[in-house]
Amino acid sequence: MQTLRINSSRLQKDFDELAQIGTTGDGGVNRPTFSESHLAARAWFRARTLADGLEFRQDAAGNHSAILRTPQPDAKTLLLGSHLDSVPNGGRFDGALGVLAALEVLRTVKEAGLDLPVHLEAIDFTDEEGTLIGLMGSQALIGKLSPAELAKPRGGRAPFEEGLTRAGLDEAVIPTAARSRESLVAFLEIHIEQGPRLQTSKCDIGIVTNIVGINANKLTFTGRADHAGTTPMDARRDAGLGAATLMLRAREEVMRDFQNCVINFGQISFSPGAYNIVPERAELAMEYRAPSQLELEMLKSRLIDIAQQTAQQLNLKLESEESGCVRATPCSLKVQDAFTAACNTLNLRATRLTSGAGHDTMSLAQICPAGMIFIPSTGGSHNPGEFARWEDCVNGANVLLQAALELAK
Ligand code: GLV
Ligand code: MN
Ligand code: MN
Repeated sequence: MQTLRINSSRLQKDFDELAQIGTTGDGGVNRPTFSESHLAARAWFRARTLADGLEFRQDAAGNHSAILRTPQPDAKTLLLGSHLDSVPNGGRFDGALGVLAALEVLRTVKEAGLDLPVHLEAIDFTDEEGTLIGLMGSQALIGKLSPAELAKPRGGRAPFEEGLTRAGLDEAVIPTAARSRESLVAFLEIHIEQGPRLQTSKCDIGIVTNIVGINANKLTFTGRADHAGTTPMDARRDAGLGAATLMLRAREEVMRDFQNCVINFGQISFSPGAYNIVPERAELAMEYRAPSQLELEMLKSRLIDIAQQTAQQLNLKLESEESGCVRATPCSLKVQDAFTAACNTLNLRATRLTSGAGHDTMSLAQICPAGMIFIPSTGGSHNPGEFARWEDCVNGANVLLQAALELAK
């Protein structure tokens, strides 16, 4: 029997159309969660789903789905997907490819008239990137988004409330998006690699074995605002210096003692914030990642130590507030095997690797067999220059299709 394949030109047409929504003009997209462009992308997905003759569903967390139902009674759902939101000035592949490939799998199965014993669902998860909360839709779907987390979104309360209003969502009912373990067969995601390993190893597909754990803290150093010209250098309580010292020490120690881990200070602000005032306060957004929970915990205590020592040495006060953490996550062996079999069927060269990026798969892995594949990409990621060759996108979508057919059995 001939191997079923997705329709490359139909997928590409969708991909190019979607990439125009929120385009940055240089290949990227700017679609932070519930911005006008993100809402437009969501509306586009809904229209596309209905035009394709699929069922459309929005849940209480704003997750959007295209569904191809089986008439079989008590059938479970095989979930495929990713996210349509982007980081500010992000790339057009991150997330979008996973949603569109999932949709294309449904269309291919429908068109082929296959009668699968499961419902197939292509899902666009709300706020994967963390403009508001991070993995918001997928955490809600697995029933892990608590009222306490909703009360303190990492993007701030006001943007969260305003975003929900724009999207027509009601905060009070978000937790009702939770689904039962029993209702899901598995979750599969395809994504660009966002790094150089597949290209270097000349592999077509990366099968993800595990996803890094991610912790984030908002750190605040407080010193004393002072005259920048008259205060002696050794008499300053300079919160800005605290931030700079922490950044350098943390980098050095992570590179020396935690070689599998990474750290990033992605936001920093000094106040009062003027050329001629010694900074009184420095706020830093610190995020760090490790491939195992043990390493993540060890790294956490080291970083807190460094921050405390820095504060002590520079006569500053230190406050630390957790702003989101996701546990390191192994991917399902069953799903990895289905991807391997799919690569064999399609004659594609695969390798297994760890994901350094967070993905909705991390959430779903907590309640059902979940796994993901990467396709080679260049230009880094979380920037407009991220890029994947179209043939690799098509390979990835075909692997998704084959693995879905296998797991649907
Ligand atoms: C998601 O893209 C992440 O921050 O890893
Ligand atoms: Mn992504
Ligand atoms: Mn991303």
